[in-house]
Amino acid sequence: MAYNLLKGKKGIIFGALDEKSMAWKAALRCYEEGAQIVLTNAPVAMRMGEIKKLAEACGNAPVIGADVTSQEDIDKLFTQSLEHFGGPIDFILHSVGMSVNMRKGNPYTDLNYAFTEKTYDISALSLHRVLQTAYKMDAIADWGSVVALTYIAAQRVFPDYSEMADAKSLLESIARSFGYHYAKKRKVRINTVSQSPTRTTAGSGVKGFDGFITYAEKMSPLGNATADDCANYVVSLFSDLTRMVTMQNLFHDGGFSFTGVSAEVIEQMEK
Ligand code: NAI
Repeated sequence: MAYNLLKGKKGIIFGALDEKSMAWKAALRCYEEGAQIVLTNAPVAMRMGEIKKLAEACGNAPVIGADVTSQEDIDKLFTQSLEHFGGPIDFILHSVGMSVNMRKGNPYTDLNYAFTEKTYDISALSLHRVLQTAYKMDAIADWGSVVALTYIAAQRVFPDYSEMADAKSLLESIARSFGYHYAKKRKVRINTVSQSPTRTTAGSGVKGFDGFITYAEKMSPLGNATADDCANYVVSLFSDLTRMVTMQNLFHDGGFSFTGVSAEVIEQMEK
C-alpha cells in the first residue's frame, strides 16, 4: 500500500544489481511512494545487471554509472543528477558492499592488505566520498536524509564476516561523524540501517550463509527482516516523519540484536 510519503522528493539509489538486491526493492518502494529517482551502480555491474528493467519500473529513471571509489565518477553522478532534477536532492541510499578477501577466499587471519584497502574503499569510505561530494556541491536540500546499509558484525563477532565487520564499523562511524556536520550545514540526517541477513548476491558471498540465516531466523522473535521490510523502513527514514533521527545505527532485524537466546535455539541445543 502506498501512502505518498515521498511525494515530490528526489533521490539517488546506489547498489541495485538484480531483483534480490536491497536497493532494488527500496527503489521500487520509493517510486511507489511518489519519489523521483536516479539509479547508479558500478559500470561493470550495470553491464551484467538488469538495472534497465528497474529503471523502466521506476518511471524511466536515469541510470548513471559510477564506481564509488572514483571521485571523478561521483562528481559526474551528482552533477548529472542535479541537472536532471533541476535542483538539490532529498535522499540517498548507500547500498554498496564488497569484500575482496572474502571473494578470494582469504580468512580474517590471512588478509591481503591491498585487497583490504579496496574493501574499505568500496564498502565504507565510499559513504564519506558521497557525502563530502554532496556537501561541497551543496547537493542535498534542507532536511534531506541519507541511509547506508550495515550489519551487526560491526558490534559483535561473526567469524566468517571477516574484514567486512571492520568495514561496517567504519561505515557506521562515518555516518555518525558526517551526521554531525551535515545536520549543522543543512539539517541533513544520516543513519545506518543494520539489516538481518538477506539472500542477495552480496549476502550469499559470506561463507556458511545458509546456517547463518537460519540461526538468525531462530534467534529473532519476529524472524528475519526481509528485503521488502528493509525497503519499507528506508522509505520511513526518507520521509518527513523521521526528521529528528540522525547519527544512529538502527537495528532492523526482528529483535535479533537484543535477544540473548531464544526457545528455538535452546531446543536445538538440547537435541
Ligand atoms: P547486492 O550484491 O545486491 O548489492 C551490493 C551492491 O554493491 C551491488 O549492486 C554492487 O554492484 C555494488 N558495488 C560493489 N562494488 C561497487 C563499486 N565499486 N561501485 C559501485 N557499486 C558497487 O547485495 P545486498 O545484500 O543488497 O547489499 C547491499 C548492502 O546491504 C551492502 O552494503 C551489504 O553489505 C548490506 N547488507 C547486506 C546484508 C545481507 O545479508 N544481504 C545484511 C546487512 C547488510
